Amino acid sequence: MRAIVCDDFGGIDALRLAERPEPVPGPGEVAIRVAASGVNFADTLLVTGEYQEKPQTPFSPGLEVAGTVSAVGAGVTHLAPGERVLAVTRHGGFAEVAIAREEATFAIPQTLDFTTAAGFPVTYGTAHGALVWRAGLQPGEILVVHGAAGGVGLATVEVGKAMGATVIATAGGPEKVELAKSHGADHGIDYRNEDLRARIKELTGGKGADVVFDPVGGSAFEASLRSTAWGGRIVVIGFASGEVPKVPANLLLVKNLAVLGFYWGSYIQHAPNLFRQQFVDLFRWYEAGRLHPLISRTFPLEDAAEALRALKSRKTTGKIVVTVADGAS
Ligand SMILES: NC(=O)c1ccc[n+]([C@@H]2O[C@H](COP(=O)([O-])OP(=O)(O)OC[C@H]3O[C@@H](n4cnc5c(N)ncnc54)[C@H](OP(=O)(O)O)[C@@H]3O)[C@@H](O)[C@H]2O)c1
Repeated sequence: MRAIVCDDFGGIDALRLAERPEPVPGPGEVAIRVAASGVNFADTLLVTGEYQEKPQTPFSPGLEVAGTVSAVGAGVTHLAPGERVLAVTRHGGFAEVAIAREEATFAIPQTLDFTTAAGFPVTYGTAHGALVWRAGLQPGEILVVHGAAGGVGLATVEVGKAMGATVIATAGGPEKVELAKSHGADHGIDYRNEDLRARIKELTGGKGADVVFDPVGGSAFEASLRSTAWGGRIVVIGFASGEVPKVPANLLLVKNLAVLGFYWGSYIQHAPNLFRQQFVDLFRWYEAGRLHPLISRTFPLEDAAEALRALKSRKTTGKIVVTVADGAS
């Protein structure tokens, strides 16, 4: 099969397209003929060895796929060859055949095409898990979403609105802010040109945000600490800015704040029932027209490195997807 290969954590520039043997599913695993694979910021870390999981080399990046089940391993009972699925992989999505665990593979609604499905699990799963499981977001609360025009950010704007929150979207540049508003955000802050802390205060009538979803870190996180309401919750999602912030514990004490870490993928192992139920809920929301996934660009498999460069350049919005099979739909 054709696959994008990372030989030695040499980063994006060292990735190459190669012929590799097709992987065979082990017990509890599913092989998927990949139609499309979602591109994640985490892939840029995976190929330099900076991600929290470090695969054995050589490996293929790609953490989520959509396609058709081609084979199942021993003990797999819920899926059969021929089913249309999406899946979260440990890695290996940028290839014609990928392996995923049964508990991380889900049959998809007929209305969900493969390209859209490939960009669905990480973004909406992270958004839903962070707001429902970790933050306990309530209808009527004020939610601030940083990096709101990016993959997980834009999905969180939609999930926050679907849960009945007032959503303040923050992003770098007026076009990105407008995009977040077109996906349902009530207010927008352009943090390149506006003072984040002052604007959150202004938009919340001085009260501050109840919940902050932060995939950016750095100065966005620091501003959040000082513009969160009494009893507020800040969910730490990632550090796209490259800066891991420090938390001054005195600020948490004074305002009864909680800073909550969240690693969505770890629920596959630690809470598989919650994980499975999440997709039931998200597919229902999708079919009811409450979610509108944005795939802003696609790249063919051979240009996967270009897709990762585009993501890192900070110029992409929503989700970008690598199409693997011809005419993926
Ligand atoms: N914890 C979890 O379970 C989980 C799950 C999924 C993703 N994540 C993390 O969430 C973060 C976002 O992932 P994603 O796939 O949504 O990425 P993405 O689509 O590239 O979005 C990241 C956003 O971060 C903002 N940003 C700020 N400073 C940046 C910089 N120096 N370089 C690049 N972007 C910067 C950009 O928005 P502006 O230009 O508007 O600032 C961009 O839209 C990553 O850190 C990822 O690892 C965590």
